[in-house]
This record gives sequence, structure tokens and C-alpha cells, in this order.
Amino acid sequence: MRRIKDTALRNIRRALAVIIALTLITMSLSACGTNEPYAGTGVSPETQTESENSVSDTSANEEDTKVLVAYFSCTGTTEAIAKGITDATGGTLYQILPEVPYTAADLDYNDGSSRANKEQDSAAARPAIKGGAEGIEKYDVIFLGYPIWWGQAPKIIYTFLEKYDFSGKTIVPFCTSHSSGIGTSNTNLHSLAPTANWIEGKRFAAGASKSKISEWIDSLGLKTGGAVSSFNLSAGENGKAPTVTLNSGYEMPIVGLGTYSLLDDVCVNSVASALQSGFRKIDTAYMYHNEKEVGEGVRKSGVPREEVFVTTKLYPNQYANAGTAIGEALEKLDLGYIDLMLLHHPGKGDVEAYKAMEKAVAEGKIRSIGLSNWYIEEIDGFISQIAIMPALIQNEIHPYYQENEVISYMQGKGIVMEAWYPLGGRGHTKELFENETIAAIAAAHGKSPAQVILRWDLQKGVVVIPGSSNPDHIKENISVFDFELTDEEMNRINALDRGEKHDWY
Ligand SMILES: NC(=O)c1ccc[n+]([C@@H]2O[C@H](COP(=O)([O-])OP(=O)(O)OC[C@H]3O[C@@H](n4cnc5c(N)ncnc54)[C@H](OP(=O)(O)O)[C@@H]3O)[C@@H](O)[C@H]2O)c1
Ligand SMILES: Cc1cc2nc3c(=O)[nH]c(=O)nc-3n(C[C@H](O)[C@H](O)[C@H](O)COP(=O)(O)O)c2cc1C
Repeated sequence: MRRIKDTALRNIRRALAVIIALTLITMSLSACGTNEPYAGTGVSPETQTESENSVSDTSANEEDTKVLVAYFSCTGTTEAIAKGITDATGGTLYQILPEVPYTAADLDYNDGSSRANKEQDSAAARPAIKGGAEGIEKYDVIFLGYPIWWGQAPKIIYTFLEKYDFSGKTIVPFCTSHSSGIGTSNTNLHSLAPTANWIEGKRFAAGASKSKISEWIDSLGLKTGGAVSSFNLSAGENGKAPTVTLNSGYEMPIVGLGTYSLLDDVCVNSVASALQSGFRKIDTAYMYHNEKEVGEGVRKSGVPREEVFVTTKLYPNQYANAGTAIGEALEKLDLGYIDLMLLHHPGKGDVEAYKAMEKAVAEGKIRSIGLSNWYIEEIDGFISQIAIMPALIQNEIHPYYQENEVISYMQGKGIVMEAWYPLGGRGHTKELFENETIAAIAAAHGKSPAQVILRWDLQKGVVVIPGSSNPDHIKENISVFDFELTDEEMNRINALDRGEKHDWY
């Protein structure tokens, strides 16, 4: 990247002076009026104790990649992005606080002798940091956030980088600014931690949405704690869903067709129609009595087998003879192998049945395995008895039954969450489609309520498998990649949760 010379910097200063002056005048008025330093978080440096400002534990388990989100922020803009990154990565948030807080006068952009101005002009300036980032050595990836000050990172970021040993750690800078890009502000930091692995940084506008932040993190390809809590939705287009990489290493499309209650020719034709509309994932189960028709539909579509991802499930009455049941499923589907097999519900003999699926993985009959209708109470006890971590859990999830704690608990283990009854299930779709909030959001985007609900799931990092035998609905359900719900709209739908289950399991 090009290095900006002093003169160029001065030009940037001049160009930005007028705009920023206005912003700063507003900030100064409020800060000077109360004579408060900029604290950034609402926790002022005076009330934040040494220990509060140290790096405390992360909930990630020992083998996980540990993420620290360290940031400096005077007016809260960078802090909001840092919190979004923390949410998306499951990392630990750490605020870099100055020993001597910055007052509004210190930040005066137009005063050549203001503290910020002098520090930025002095190559040697290293403002002291309050407290210590003890425990920093245990982090593998450090997101490092700052506001742009005259095209560069504030000097306190230099202090931070020189204070610790970042050898072998990955550092990902991010910044906020009025209008400047990240420019050379990140590359100029490299020499301060030359043995770190630096990743090119990114500038965020104030108030960037959580999905923008998640998409950026996904694009970095970092392994952050194994959590699978967001998808790269911008890689999708209507008729072509993006994929998520399962912990088995296999890619799986994030929109699929559910086939519960689709029988005989209706099933064959719905599967073929879905594949022709761009679907590449089909969900069936022994209990749906249509595995044979799903296989036929795949063949009828003309789409090559290897492009299609097929899930089926073993029902509890099969657990006692799971090996035989797997053979029967393979035979009925007649697709060579099963992409993903789930246990339909917890039940007698489920651990043994899971072990039979593990054996089938080793034999190349099944590629990935997982569970359905497993909740927090059951999962850890189950995992302790098996060898292959479940790749996916399929549970009831819709706006009236959200199970958000279950979603984040499982995602935190690197398990992909998938929603059954995403539209509420047959007999309940009307209630959801006519819900005032959902209908209003749909109208605002010129989309159907079904599309809004599916998009809401996807933005939460939850895979969807809407069921339909109507070719128009099928097309509609995979046309959810040309709009985005705002954080406010996501929150409005999140607020609809009633803990209302539409089926018993
Ligand atoms: N693991 C489990 O225990 C479990 C339990 C239940 C379901 N599942 C799986 O989850 C899948 C999804 O559940 P589901 O199919 O029962 O319920 P769903 O997807 O919530 O809703 C299906 C209903 O929505 C309608 N629909 C679909 N798309 C629509 C659209 N764009 N506009 C208007 N209406 C639309 C369908 O009618 P049309 O046919 O007219 O489009 C059908 O009546 C199942 O098919 C099955 O694969 C798993
Ligand atoms: C001293 C100072 C210098 C700044 N220089 C620039 C600049 O060169 N380019 C720019 O776009 N914004 C500039 N800004 C605006 C900040 O980068 C922007 O408001 C930032 O989002 C503030 O982040 P914070 O709220 O986390 O402190 C400057 C602000 C201050 C206080």
C-alpha cells in the first residue's frame, strides 16, 4: 500500500477540517460543558479499576482459537464496532484506556497545539495505557480497533503494540473515521509488531450493521473458536444459496427444501422443481416415508449427484438396529452416499445408533453426522460418549419459538444450527405471515413474509429448510439474497419470541 507523505496528510487535514470541526464543536460543547474526559463506554477511566481494565477470561474452551478484541475509542464509535466483532467471534473485549484521559480540548482538531495534534505529530509520542492486558499471551487473534486521527492510528495504539509480545499472533486492524479510509494507518503499525501475522484491516462507518461485521469476519477465513454463528450471505444470489463449511470439512448449502408430508409424485416433483430452481440441499427422514422419492427427484432433476446435499434421519425405533437402518436408507435413496445423517430425537439406544453412524462415516457411506431435537440439557452428556462431534443440529426454530440460548450454545461448539418449521409449520404459517411486525417488514422490503422469516434465520446464522410443493413458493424461498434486514428489524422479529412450540419434540 502507498505510504502517505506529510504533505498529503496535511491536505487531508485541511479537507477534513471543516467537516470534522463541526462534529468536534458539538462534541466539545458537551464534553467541555460537563468538563468530562471522553470515556468511550459510559464507564469513565476514573471509575474503571485496574482489574476491570485487564484482559479477563474468555469462555472459549482450551483448544479453541482465542480472540481478543482490543480497541481505543473516545466517543464510542469504534467501541460499537468492537462489540459487534466480539459478538460475532465469541472473543473477549478489551478497552485500551489512556492513563490520562483525553478531554474535548485534547481532541481539538483545529488547535495545532492540542494534545492529539501534538502526539500525532511526534514520532516518539507513546501515551501511557491505564492498567494492563494481563493474559494477552493466551490470545491467538487480536482485532485491534481505533479511530482515525489525521489519517493514522492514535499513538496510544503504538504504545499498546510495543508493550506486548505479539510474535506468532494474528493482528487484524479495524478503524472508524469520519470519511478517511484505513489507508496507511494499518500498514504503518506493522513495524511495531514485526513478528506478528498482520491481516489487512478495514474501516467501518459509524453504526455498521452486525451482518456487515460478520461478513467481513467470515471473509478473513480466521478460525475463531470454531463458532459457526454467521454466514457469508453476500456470496449468495437468488436461486443460489451460499454454503457453510461443516466441522466435517464438507460444504453445505444454507437453504434447503424440507420434504415432510410430501409423498409419492408430489415429493419427486417438488424435489426436481427445487433443484431446477437452484436448491442444492434436500431434507428427508425415514419417518417421512419418502426417501425413495427424494432419490428419484434428485435423479429426475438432471442436476449431478455431487452437486446435491441430501440429509436423512434415523428414527428412534431404528436405533436398536442402526447399522441395518443406515443400509436401508442408502438403498432407498440410491444416491451412492448420504451427505448428512441425523438422529431424529433423543431416545433409547441413541448413543449406540450414533456410533453406528460414526462407523458408516469411516466406511464412506455417510459424510457428516448430527442430531435433531437435541437441547442444552442433553448435548454435553451425549458428546462425552461419542467420537465425532455433531456437524449440525436440526431443531424447531421460528419467530414464535426462537430458542436463542440453544442456538448460541450449539454454535459456540462449532455445530451448525438448522431450523425445522422455519415458517411455523403447516397449519401455523398464516399466524406468522399475518403477524403485524413481519408483514410490515416484508412490505418495507417488497418481499413476502416467508422471505423475511427465512432471511431473519440466515442473518442469525441458522440454516433453513422450508417445506413446499408449490413451485412458486419454492422459488421464492431461495430468493432471499437481494435484501438485508437491518439490526432494528432483526430486533423487532427477535422480540416476537413467545416460546410457543408447534410440535411436541
Ligand atoms: N427434525 C424434525 O423433527 C422435523 C420436524 C418437522 C419438520 N422437519 C423438517 O423441516 C422441514 C420444514 O418444515 P415444514 O415443511 O413442516 O414446515 P414449514 O417449512 O415451516 O412450512 C411449510 C408450509 O409453508 C408453506 N410455504 C412454504 N413456502 C411458502 C411461501 N414462500 N409462501 C407461502 N407459504 C409457503 C407450505 O405450503 P406450500 O406447499 O403450499 O408451499 C407449507 O404449508 C420439513 O419439511 C422437514 O424436512 C423436521
Ligand atoms: C483528533 C481527531 C482527528 C481526526 N482525524 C480524522 C481524519 O483524518 N479522517 C477522518 O475521516 N476522521 C477523522 N476524525 C474523526 C474520527 O476518526 C471519527 O469520528 C471516529 O469514528 C471516532 O471514533 P471513536 O468514537 O471511537 O473515538 C478525527 C477525530 C479526531 C478527534
